[in-house]
Amino acid sequence: MNKFYITTAIDYVNGAPHIGHAYEKILADIIFKHFKQRRDEYFFLTGTDEHGIKIQKTAANMGVTPQELCDKNSALFSSAWKELGIEYSKFIRTTNPEHKRIVQKIFEQLLSSGDIYKDSYEGKYCTGCEAYLSDKDLDENGCCLIHGTKPEIIKEENYFFRLSKYKDKIAEHIKNNPKFIVPAFRAQEVLNQLENIEDISVSRSVDNVKWGIPVYSDPSQIIYVWIDALSNYITALGYTPEGIGDILFNKYWPANVQVIGKDILKFHAIYWSALLMALGVKLPKTIFAHGWITINQAKMSKTTGNVVSPSTIMQAFELENSDPLRYYLAVCTQQGRDGNYSDEEFKERVNVDLANNMGNLLNRTLNMLVKYFDGEIKKEFICANELTEIAHSSILKVKEHFDNYRVAEAASEILQVVDEANKFVNDNAPWSLAKAEKMEECGRVLYSVLDLMVYVGTLIKPFCPNIAAEIARQLNFDIDMRLDELKPKMIPAGKLISKEDIKPVFLRLDSEFADKK
Ligand code: MSP
Repeated sequence: MNKFYITTAIDYVNGAPHIGHAYEKILADIIFKHFKQRRDEYFFLTGTDEHGIKIQKTAANMGVTPQELCDKNSALFSSAWKELGIEYSKFIRTTNPEHKRIVQKIFEQLLSSGDIYKDSYEGKYCTGCEAYLSDKDLDENGCCLIHGTKPEIIKEENYFFRLSKYKDKIAEHIKNNPKFIVPAFRAQEVLNQLENIEDISVSRSVDNVKWGIPVYSDPSQIIYVWIDALSNYITALGYTPEGIGDILFNKYWPANVQVIGKDILKFHAIYWSALLMALGVKLPKTIFAHGWITINQAKMSKTTGNVVSPSTIMQAFELENSDPLRYYLAVCTQQGRDGNYSDEEFKERVNVDLANNMGNLLNRTLNMLVKYFDGEIKKEFICANELTEIAHSSILKVKEHFDNYRVAEAASEILQVVDEANKFVNDNAPWSLAKAEKMEECGRVLYSVLDLMVYVGTLIKPFCPNIAAEIARQLNFDIDMRLDELKPKMIPAGKLISKEDIKPVFLRLDSEFADKK
């Protein structure tokens, strides 16, 4: 099991990316980068979900074609992810011809197996969810519980997917595979939803919806929209129902983890599972449902006008790179819980963790090495002690957190190692040792901290790749090292650094502002 395949939800392109979309992609990227430090083969898929009535309407209002709107907005997402250092292996667009062709084949396969059938239907359709709603999905005013809008009454002849047929099999799978839904507290929620599950409509008449993939054998119907969207996770790997030449699919499927927001867990844990079962394809190992990001404790919405984009934050704080934002979003909440963004909390958290605790530790230790030893590690300084023990055992703990997709918890483990090292420096006071001319002892204290920073730099890399690279530059180790290569005493004897090469790895955010005032 040396491969790792991770996916995110694909975003709707009726607007620009905001911090909620960014949160998900950053979480997935951190998990991806961590597993890159452990595996030989890895693949990270993200992309955009481009069909549906919303796009059709938005494009019409703007006087452009749906394809033009998709091209423009999809590019905003892919470039925003580049700016945030998100290292996707493939960016899939559901308007891509190859995806469309395979979705049509999947649909035909399900028609011929009897999992899809035609029926006439009258129901309440929410365009926000792109799904028909049952009474359980509505509040007391008859509005969608997620979007707060009144669904449209739609009567049509549609194709239906026999979801109810898979109900018991999915429930059994959830119960037998405790890691299938992460965090575990969401599994019961899905089991409850399963009890009332009915067959779902999977097409719309071309008279009502034009922007989508036509059913191959019946172009009067448009495939709508979850079969189209969900299939991206396998069409991107070249899956076809006939299974010829699917090299990437055979290598990477089933996904190790599919990262999505809690609002679309039902579609993934139930619809997607049933679809895969109907196709005779294995289920992903884990579906990780993250919580939502609020802005100053309020839900982001276009109507309130409080939608924040990642680039707004980058510009407002004049960030050189995305490390602080990546770090903040990763740690602002525990696994699966909602988190909050505010400028103040952001500034405070990154200043304390990245500048004061982590950055200063390296900076002051290196400065002492230069001051007392002209930047040289002498042979007799090379040692291992309780700090080495703490650093080394943190690898296992961080790995265990990532094995369970506890991203914030992994970061907090790394920061605890930093705290221990700060305490060690204060307890051992190398400046007093130098004053008392206990130079060897002083050198050993400094060495143990620097040696620990090799661990910290490597482990923090998935969160803050730029800071990690700067730590590695100053300590002269290979930042692309795998986790199983990390061992004590990696810094050799000899000249390590000169005064002019010491640089803070992270500047406090307000200190940059102070300059400008
Ligand atoms: N297109 C569908 C997903 C199809 S996946 C086969 C969709 N798109 S979306 O643009 O509405 O949302 C994309 C992802 O962003 C979802 O996982 C959603 O939960 C997440 N988020 C959207 N707003 C969010 C926050 N405010 N906070 C955190 N994540 C949120 O759903």
